[in-house]
Amino acid sequence: MSSTETRTFEMAKEAILSMRNDGTPTDTMQYYNQWAQNYEQDMELIGFRAPIMAAEHVSAHFTGERQTAVVLDVACGTGWVAKMMKREGFQHFVGVDCSEGMLQRARHTGLYRELKMAVLGEQPLPVPSGEYEIVIIAGALSSSHLPAYVIRELCRAAKQGGLICMTGKCDRENINYRASLESEIKHMEDAGLWRCVNVTYVKEWQLGLTEHERGYIPGCVYLFQKL
Ligand SMILES: C[S@@+](CC[C@H](N)C(=O)[O-])C[C@H]1O[C@@H](n2cnc3c(N)ncnc32)[C@H](O)[C@@H]1O
Repeated sequence: MSSTETRTFEMAKEAILSMRNDGTPTDTMQYYNQWAQNYEQDMELIGFRAPIMAAEHVSAHFTGERQTAVVLDVACGTGWVAKMMKREGFQHFVGVDCSEGMLQRARHTGLYRELKMAVLGEQPLPVPSGEYEIVIIAGALSSSHLPAYVIRELCRAAKQGGLICMTGKCDRENINYRASLESEIKHMEDAGLWRCVNVTYVKEWQLGLTEHERGYIPGCVYLFQKL
C-alpha cells in the first residue's frame, strides 16, 4: 500500500518542514495521518537512516535466539524498523504508535503480531513490564514527538538483560531535547536501571533541510542493557 505518487526531494522537504514543533499531540497525530502514504518515500529521499542503523546496532550486540525474541517497536510508524530487523533474522514484533494512518501501513506489512495505539507522554506505554528481549525507538526522540522521560517506559518494558535501542538526531534543532535525553539516560544509569552497551555518533544521519543545515546532519544510536 505504498504511495502511487512519485515524490521529489522538494515535496519531501515541504512535507517534513510543515510539521509544527510546538504542536499538540493531536496536531502530531493529524500530521502523521495525512503524511502516512508518502512517509517512507519522503524519508528515503532525505537519506533517513534511523531504522537501518537501529537494526544493525541491535543485531551486532544481540546474543540471544533471534527466531524467538520479541521486539517492541515504539513509535513504529509504517513498520520500517520491523522490515530492517527481519533482514537481521528477527521474526516477532509488537508495535506502538499514536497515528492510526501510520499503524494501518504497519499492519499492511504483516510483520506485527500486535499493534497498539497510544500517545506516549500522555498515556502509558500499553505493554506489560519485563516482557521484551529488544525495545527500539527510532526517529521519534525529539520535542515535537514525545518527552525524553518516556525512555523509562522503554526500560520498564524490556526483559532483564534485554537491549534498548534509541536513535536521535544530533542537529542544532534537537540540541535542548538531546541534553534532556542524555540527562535522563545518565539518571537511569546512576539508578542501576540499565548499563550502556554502545553509543555511536553517525556523521551522515540524514540530509539537513533548513538553511542552517546544509548537507548531512549527524545522529546517534544509543544501546543499553536492562539490569
Ligand atoms: C519519524 S516517524 C518514525 C517511525 C519509525 N520508527 C521509523 O523509523 O520509520 C515518528 C513516529 O512517531 C509517532 N509518534 C509521534 N509522537 C508520538 C507519541 N507521542 N506517541 C506515540 N507515537 C508518536 C508518529 O506517529 C510517527 O509514526
